[in-house]
Amino acid sequence: MVQSSRHDIVIVGGGAAGLRAAIQAAEANPDASVALVSKVYPMRSHTVSAEGGAAAIAREDDSLELHGFDTVKGSDFLGDQDVIQYFVEDAPRELALLENWGCPWSRNDDGSVSTRAFGGMTTKRTWYATDKVGFHMLHSLFQHSMRFPNIVRYDEFFVTKLLVEDGVCQGVAALEIRTGEFHAILGRAVILATGGAGKIFPFTTNGTIKTGDGMALAYRAGVPLKDMEFVQYHPTGLPGTGILITEAARGEGGYLRNNKDERFLVEYDYGVGDKAELGPRDMVSRAIIQEFEAGRGFENRYGNYCAVDLRHLGEEHIDAKLPFVRELARTYIGVDPVHEYIPIRPVVHYMMGGVDTDITAATPLPGLYAAGEVACGSLNGANRLGSNSLTECLVFGAVAGRNAMDFARGSADGDQARLVAQAEEEAARVEALRGNGKGSEQISSLRVEMNSALEAGCGVYREQGTMAVAADATRSIRQRAADLHLKDTSKVFNTEVISALELLNMVELAEALAVSALHRKESRGAHTCRDYPTRDDQNFLYHTLAHRTEDGPRLDRKDVNLGHWEPQERKY
Ligand code: FUM
Repeated sequence: MVQSSRHDIVIVGGGAAGLRAAIQAAEANPDASVALVSKVYPMRSHTVSAEGGAAAIAREDDSLELHGFDTVKGSDFLGDQDVIQYFVEDAPRELALLENWGCPWSRNDDGSVSTRAFGGMTTKRTWYATDKVGFHMLHSLFQHSMRFPNIVRYDEFFVTKLLVEDGVCQGVAALEIRTGEFHAILGRAVILATGGAGKIFPFTTNGTIKTGDGMALAYRAGVPLKDMEFVQYHPTGLPGTGILITEAARGEGGYLRNNKDERFLVEYDYGVGDKAELGPRDMVSRAIIQEFEAGRGFENRYGNYCAVDLRHLGEEHIDAKLPFVRELARTYIGVDPVHEYIPIRPVVHYMMGGVDTDITAATPLPGLYAAGEVACGSLNGANRLGSNSLTECLVFGAVAGRNAMDFARGSADGDQARLVAQAEEEAARVEALRGNGKGSEQISSLRVEMNSALEAGCGVYREQGTMAVAADATRSIRQRAADLHLKDTSKVFNTEVISALELLNMVELAEALAVSALHRKESRGAHTCRDYPTRDDQNFLYHTLAHRTEDGPRLDRKDVNLGHWEPQERKY
């Protein structure tokens, strides 16, 4: 039997964007009830693993104009400029607010906020709290959220369906992981804040929980996914685990080196001169792959790698600014960056694409909002600048919280019986999956096949032939996933059924990504096609929309919001 509860709004996801949305909504209407539903305890959300910082102007040599233009140029002119302008204007206020809630931003000797350089930025714009920024931000948000008695938490509840009645999103169906019971959590508006989908790839900085659940929920409910072809490879992940070595390592003055001990990026003339390591992520990742192809990569059991060299910074500086980098390198790869190179290679880090939203964080489905990495607003276009995303979670989390609450104020409660009936159908679907011994496909095998197909076809460099193979493979994997074999019939903490539900989400996204990538016959930002090496504004200056159909994604397009900055050649 499905249990039901009613709130004013329902937020799915307990990381930075979800918590910020909850605080905004709870503050806007203290009489309203705000449900915060998360598949993990909020402090275990992936935000906790963010390291390097959050962007907002703070220095005299910086300006809104510069932050805006850097972001537009970084996006390879695919970012929506109204969204970008709103973002850069609101960013400093959000970061100051977070300090009021307890975030210990690092300071200069004169007491001003200390900022560090990140790739693709004209000046130092990244606020930081040493190199454990996500931990401090999440702590501050979580602690602050506890001041609001009208935020009702559902920790370790896995949302499997959006409840849509009369064309309006009015709640969610969720599996309580601890008991195996199903719940209809109803609200007059819903916000998705579930993060990205890095786990559709095999080698990623993303935690195990990042399976694109919110994207898949929206996609199944008829909301298009936008710009899914744009996948960010972070240049510096530890080989083997994919653990992030933050861009702050280069922002603080670290070098990248090849097997000839050369600072090879100096040779890649993308215009950042002696700050070669501070190119944008798409360009630096491509340069590393080119070094591998030219035989200038190091090699170990995980394949090719290059190195981050921090030795010249000295122990005191490393311990003051990059203590976590030192800890991670020592613990996970057994090297001390004070004396040794840190091995790194490009690693999947972030999805520029996601649920189609506008500047109000609204999706095309009335009552449904999205913020953070799950959403595509589009702030980041074809390539995100490092440290814009933590700030994006705050700025657009607040926007979503405000607007969802406004929407809820203006709407009547939906028909409870019909909504609960939908949740009951959903419970039956999941029940049929639990311990389903009749299926013939293994969860782990399909996941590995999906991972391999995307890595082979939609990596740093892409080609029409290999993308077409990935599109075919992901379609067949999605179809085969309808026939999963499960063994565990238990209800309490049935992690097998969770893995199955996550896989069913991921296969939808994998196909949408491969099909979107195949259609874009140009190179823009992180989408680099060897057979179409240049940007083609004439034919492709638009957002890709992928609509779900039973036969696979149907592609459509959406205009880019230009206006303030004219597209130009992207030079640094
Ligand atoms: O390298 C980093 O610290 C990552 C930051 C980001 O993705 O914004």
